[in-house]
Amino acid sequence: MHQKKLTIPDIRHRKNGTPISVLTAYDYPWGRLVDAAGIDIALVGDSLGMVVLGYPDTVSVTMEEMIHHSKAVVRGVEHALVVTDMPFGSYNSSMPAAINNATRLLKEGRADAVKVEGGVAMAETVAAIVRAGIPVQGHIGLTPQTATSLGGFKVQGKSAHAAQQLLDDARALEEAGCFSIVLEAIPAPLAEHITKAISIPTIGIGAGPGCDGQVLVIHDLVGLYDRFTPKFVKQYARINEQVAAALAQYKTEVESRAFPDEAHSFSMKAEEMDKLLQLY
Ligand code: KIV
Repeated sequence: MHQKKLTIPDIRHRKNGTPISVLTAYDYPWGRLVDAAGIDIALVGDSLGMVVLGYPDTVSVTMEEMIHHSKAVVRGVEHALVVTDMPFGSYNSSMPAAINNATRLLKEGRADAVKVEGGVAMAETVAAIVRAGIPVQGHIGLTPQTATSLGGFKVQGKSAHAAQQLLDDARALEEAGCFSIVLEAIPAPLAEHITKAISIPTIGIGAGPGCDGQVLVIHDLVGLYDRFTPKFVKQYARINEQVAAALAQYKTEVESRAFPDEAHSFSMKAEEMDKLLQLY
């Protein structure tokens, strides 16, 4: 079935409609799988630093890495909107650097939009990127790039004061021109309240069912990342167990010469082999 490529207006129109499905993807095969499943947004998240590149955090991820992985995902996607994360340090040093780096993610990374972490403090930068013609998705609540300042990977917005700040953040990003906002690790009633208070779609991760869409890190969803699994992750598969079993069987079959068998080998005419042996 051929489906048309999703656009920013398509996502905006899903406010209060059918929930928007978002999954991370970091390369061509996962881009293809996410797209074939009909997922609306393939997010090239900087979580790639942890789940694919083995860094301890997302802070280490570079522009070159984001561009490299974004290009690979785009090659596998026909229908989903591709949103690529701006890595730490690529948008917080100056406005021209932010615009330049966001432009690179579209021109070189072939993304359809970029994602930026931060609320009120980032609103001016977001507005400048949007004015440059680049669609921006916001990200507030638990923002992994600045998790240390937030006191670690903790639920945000639990007090009335902190909740009010998150509402201000969401409104500032809406005003700045974001087409949607990721709400990460905040109480479900607060996420629902923010969702009702703004006119752009909210995408929740650990933010309960009251958002306009949901996002998960695909390696968490399929059971490929076992270093740490947050409470909000639902594991729909455990493919690491299947992969481990397949690799163990391969090793056994190589050592016992059960692999490769005839079905996985090439033959040649016996007389050609005889001719070869006569050459000696
Ligand atoms: O980097 C990422 O994967 C993200 C999602 C968790 C929203 O930002």
